[in-house]
Amino acid sequence: MSAWRGQVAFVTGGASGIGLGMAEAFASAGMLVTIADIEQPALVAAVAQLAAKGLHVETMVLDVRDLGAFQAAAEALASRHGRVDLVCNNAGVVFERDAADWTDAGWRWVLDVNLMGVVHGYQAFLPILKRQGRGHFVNTASVTGLLGRAHIGQYGATKFAIVGLSQTMREELAPDGVGVHVLCPGKVMTNIMHATRNAPPQLRSNGRLATIAAPPLTPKPAGLRDVSDAFEVGRMVLAAVEEDVFYILTDLTWAAEIAAEQAKLRDGLAWLEKREAAPSRG
Ligand code: NAI
Repeated sequence: MSAWRGQVAFVTGGASGIGLGMAEAFASAGMLVTIADIEQPALVAAVAQLAAKGLHVETMVLDVRDLGAFQAAAEALASRHGRVDLVCNNAGVVFERDAADWTDAGWRWVLDVNLMGVVHGYQAFLPILKRQGRGHFVNTASVTGLLGRAHIGQYGATKFAIVGLSQTMREELAPDGVGVHVLCPGKVMTNIMHATRNAPPQLRSNGRLATIAAPPLTPKPAGLRDVSDAFEVGRMVLAAVEEDVFYILTDLTWAAEIAAEQAKLRDGLAWLEKREAAPSRG
């Protein structure tokens, strides 16, 4: 029997894509799942989709930019179930422009949903998880939170921030018995490329969308598979949390590029060591 049976999960952005994939994986493992999303019709459709597979989830309409609503959702969940075990701060949007076309409104929307949505998730659920002395946060960043690439400045900045915040919170919450994990998927088949459906009206038809999606890849080494299925990502999340893995990576396609980035960091350290060792730095 799954160790997760009867445990309580909350997933933001749960009506579509990776959030829905997590919900399906969690419900399949016997968890009591609530999905929260800004899109009411998509929530209704998600319930029907999962019901057709014999799975049940609860829903809440929630805009993750609204701290008060997030706190009310957290308290409602805790009082309904008496516990919360797994909080997935997953809602995210993309609104990419080349730097020449940036606007404050575009930046603010992406920052508010992607980054403040995660911050609000902590603010809302931290008192509950601390009180329990147990539970886990899984924050959805991206492989673009590990690799900076051209044309994804706004999105990448929020994803790097989520990785950094997750590192901080993992250290900070360990003494409370609360785990923190950061999900860094590669490319997953979802509705993210239509994210502006939820943008403030003035951003919906404003300017051109830069070429985005995933950062450019070096050719994939033979034998590696793409994990493009959101349900499989959800199953990986449960396995990684069970094994207390911090970086939940879904796709080995990126291994060489991540290693190359780490090599640049080592180059910086080697440069400093050489400079410190030099007799005179003039
Ligand atoms: P999606 O568009 O299929 O799902 C995102 C969900 O978030 C939607 O249901 C949407 O209604 C909801 N949402 C948007 N704004 C919201 C708000 N203010 N409050 C509450 N819910 C809101 O996209 P996807 O791909 O499933 O995105 C989920 C997360 O995965 C995002 O954080 C995204 O950045 C991340 N991600 C996606 C990758 C991909 O290839 N699809 C790769 C790496 C990370």
